[in-house]
Amino acid sequence: MEWWKTASIYQIYPRSFQDSGGDGIGDLPGIRKRLPYIRDLGFDAIWLSPFYKSPMKDFGYDVADYCDVDPIFGTLKDFDGLLEDAHRLGLKVLIDFVPNHTSDQHPWFLESRSSRDNPKRDWYVWRDPAPDGGPPNNWQAYFGGPSWTFDPQTGQYYLHQFLPEQPDLNWRNPEVRQAMYDVMRFWLDKGVDGFRVDVLWLLVEDALFRDEPDNPHYKPGDIDRFRHIHIYQEDQPETRQIVQEMRAVLDEYPGDRVMVGEIYLPYEQLMPYYGTAEKPGCHLPFNFHLIFRGLNNWTAENIRSIVEEYEKSLPPFATPNWVLGNHDQHRLATRIGHDQARVAAMMLFTLRGSPTWYYGDEIGMVDGQIPPEKVQDPAALRQRGASGEHGLDPGRDPERTPMQWTPHAYAGFSTREPWLPISPDYTERNVEAQDADPFSMLTLVRTLLVVRRETPALLGGAYQSYKAPEGVFAYLRGGEVLVALNFTPEPKTLSTPGGEVLLSTYLDRYDKVEGVLELRPHEGVIVKL
Ligand code: GLC
Repeated sequence: MEWWKTASIYQIYPRSFQDSGGDGIGDLPGIRKRLPYIRDLGFDAIWLSPFYKSPMKDFGYDVADYCDVDPIFGTLKDFDGLLEDAHRLGLKVLIDFVPNHTSDQHPWFLESRSSRDNPKRDWYVWRDPAPDGGPPNNWQAYFGGPSWTFDPQTGQYYLHQFLPEQPDLNWRNPEVRQAMYDVMRFWLDKGVDGFRVDVLWLLVEDALFRDEPDNPHYKPGDIDRFRHIHIYQEDQPETRQIVQEMRAVLDEYPGDRVMVGEIYLPYEQLMPYYGTAEKPGCHLPFNFHLIFRGLNNWTAENIRSIVEEYEKSLPPFATPNWVLGNHDQHRLATRIGHDQARVAAMMLFTLRGSPTWYYGDEIGMVDGQIPPEKVQDPAALRQRGASGEHGLDPGRDPERTPMQWTPHAYAGFSTREPWLPISPDYTERNVEAQDADPFSMLTLVRTLLVVRRETPALLGGAYQSYKAPEGVFAYLRGGEVLVALNFTPEPKTLSTPGGEVLLSTYLDRYDKVEGVLELRPHEGVIVKL
């Protein structure tokens, strides 16, 4: 079976994983040093958020050179060394690919904005002002204000769905497509195993630039983007064509190179990104429903319906995938508490498909505390106090605080004050302490990954619903492994055929069960029937 069909992926936010240069910001040599940690935890692959040359207006999601490393993070040579070490340890490496927009400092944009007849003018999306001189239409950006910024020198507006410093590339232009496919080839030639593609569903906009209709659910205080329903800025049919083309680039290479797509869409709009059995598209279009519909309403009944709706919507050839956190979402343990974070981990690693895990969640890191004067996230600074659509919360610093390795100075992350404050719980909550504790969250995640690897039914077995009392979500994998998850603080029982407990979230039982399975408060168990 192709590796990505069962792989557990570990996401690293490079600024916050490990500083090796002593500047308070994480870097590639730091990550390289920590690769054995990730391998020993049992993950199969890492995904690195952007490390490219960037003015860091959106902390690397504003790329000024797609084929170079920002000096903050190291050099291309550092990347090569990291890749080599990862492969030697048996870890696949996925890197972030940010095709929707560049930095406004990218040479392509500098050329494009220099004059209306520059050959790269059409590489970005330029429009004349509306008759009143205002923006060409009503489109709003994710990080506040209109999706358009006026360029006085050439008298037109350019499109940006995020910051004005992140102009959107024009994916209708064939030269842009070729240039971006060459960027993919640059990294594939180096040997990367694939890409996590940033905002894949936003690549193309309506060719007629029509106004978007009002969103009836918008309320004052919401982010500006939420004012409208995005039928013209998002998920256009041409995007699927581009996905096929990107897939074709990956398929030029041997060794199962993969595309993971960032796509915040309802299931019926998400599924087409898989393509078809004959003409496959994105290998793993991210399924974010646990994040934006699950963590807000963490009940066994809601989660069961999210899982089963997904299982029903998937085309037969498609590989499912699950995710509980990332650098844009508040921390798992903050959202549902430490007890339920353990239950969630058991679920993530036992559902059918490929799970993605966010760094630090394995020690139950919580949202950091960011004093107002230390806020860094541009989304937060532009739209203070607004609540986010798609769960893309404007204040993303709390979930980006440095990894907590040790109880010592700066949590073993750096030798000086880091770019974001270390969460104050680091003296107790850190890798060193949890590594030595047989009942810690870290031990649970490591053990879950062992059980997953050693139990074929958990890797490849079909999902089947299993009857459970209120407050419990239970399912069978491959007809022979039962997973029962108690979402409540009360004890629960469910009936089972005979079996043997392979793992409990409490990490303290391996008993035989017969007829009835007793679950303690907040307990999840895996039973081999
Ligand atoms: C994606 C990234 C987010 C970034 C945005 C713009 O949503 O995950 O961090 O700000 O794209 O590139």
